[in-house]
Amino acid sequence: MKSAIILAAGKGTRMRSQKPKTLHPLLGKPMILYIVDHVKAAGADSVVTVIGYGASEMTEVLKGHSDLALQSPQLGTGHALMCCESLKTAVGPVLVANGDCPLIQPETYRLLYESLEDNAMVVLSAVLPDGGAYGRIIRDAHGQFKKITEYKDCSEAEKKIREINTGIYVFNGELLAKNLQNLKNDNAQKEYYITDLVDIFFRQGLKVKAVVIDDYNEAAGINDRFELAMASHWLQKRINAGWMKNGVTIVDWETTRIGPDVVIGEDTFIHPGSSILGATRIGVGNTIFPGCWLENAIIGDHNEILSSRITDSQIKDNIHLGPYAHLRNHCVIESDCRIGNFVEMKNTKLGKGTKCAHLTYLGDSEVGERVNFGCGVVTVNYDGKNKFKTVIGDDSFIGSNVNLIAPVTIGKRAVLAAGSTVNSDVGDGEMAIARNRQTNKPGYGEKYLKK
Ligand code: UD1
Ligand code: CA
Repeated sequence: MKSAIILAAGKGTRMRSQKPKTLHPLLGKPMILYIVDHVKAAGADSVVTVIGYGASEMTEVLKGHSDLALQSPQLGTGHALMCCESLKTAVGPVLVANGDCPLIQPETYRLLYESLEDNAMVVLSAVLPDGGAYGRIIRDAHGQFKKITEYKDCSEAEKKIREINTGIYVFNGELLAKNLQNLKNDNAQKEYYITDLVDIFFRQGLKVKAVVIDDYNEAAGINDRFELAMASHWLQKRINAGWMKNGVTIVDWETTRIGPDVVIGEDTFIHPGSSILGATRIGVGNTIFPGCWLENAIIGDHNEILSSRITDSQIKDNIHLGPYAHLRNHCVIESDCRIGNFVEMKNTKLGKGTKCAHLTYLGDSEVGERVNFGCGVVTVNYDGKNKFKTVIGDDSFIGSNVNLIAPVTIGKRAVLAAGSTVNSDVGDGEMAIARNRQTNKPGYGEKYLKK
């Protein structure tokens, strides 16, 4: 039984934000969820996140992802562990992860679990070009790990040490549970330091070691928005390189943001300047032109998407979409449709081969196959209080500038004359004309212009 505890109760003052630090997103995903996902991928059977600052927002985001422990007030990293009820009965290895280190990869956590062996505690360290303000790893002349010294307590010589404490550890669960009560807060900050456990274990003759992370870039802790941007950039390169190696063309990796949970098929071609985020899945042979925002979008094969936004919606195959189309809130577009410029769809289904090419809003609609929409069709789905549905049958023709006042049902092979405002149902094969008859007044135009 492997467990993991994620420390994320702090405010993250240097973000200068109302939002708790670990909820700030990297490539569209809150930092904290990277850590939850990565410790699970490394084999953690149970995950507890220690929350404090912004607890209600944290609870909202972590729902269904992690168990929670509340630390209030926050009296240090050691105190955070004392707040975990589940620790009291812990068996097996307990990983302690740092809520502000989202770049640590599952493989690194896995190796850390494996390194526990007969140690009471293993510290994950990193050798940095510059140790900054991190706690330093102090070793003896034989390279044997001795202790962690916090930066502010370091001598000038110790400050030069480049091996630092990442704040990530694995413990023998029973030994951790037994020794937490031995932590004291008799230091300048009046805090309980997790790092004091090193000494507590050594004094009992137990084994503690520090293992160095392979790639120190993973250990980057995020404290402010510049570090967040640097971390995003590092991750972006890694993710985009991965897709390029898997047969996706990314013209400019630096302006293409692809979230960590996105999946993309071979021969998809991505032009610069798009964000592809959330649980988006893209099939093969698609072309994504500049300036798209795809979030939780399911894209089939061989589509062309131009400067458009698709959220929480699905398009199937051979669809031409945009420029400047907007699909949101559970749209499903069947294959061979055409959706043109300035078309917005919300909670709408389009059957195969339907065309909706210009300046149109379809909301809460269910449209059949091979329907043709003229320019400027509007479904009037909202009366200020409630939303209503529009249904249109196969092969119907909706003229330009038609208003469909929902609830309304249009049959198959029906024709709605251009400019009609349609508020009652139209049967199969019928034509509806709902507009005033035109009158022409001879000479009136000439008279008007002379005035
Ligand atoms: C800690 C380590 C330091 C290490 C650094 C790595 C101690 C005493 N020092 O320092 O050696 O180099 O991490 O980043 O542990 N947290 C809580 N509750 C608290 C305090 C902190 O949950 O009461 C969480 C924070 O939200 C954060 C993590 O623990 O995610 C680390 O806390 P932080 O205050 O950043 O620790 P440092 O002082 O930087
Ligand atoms: Ca920190």
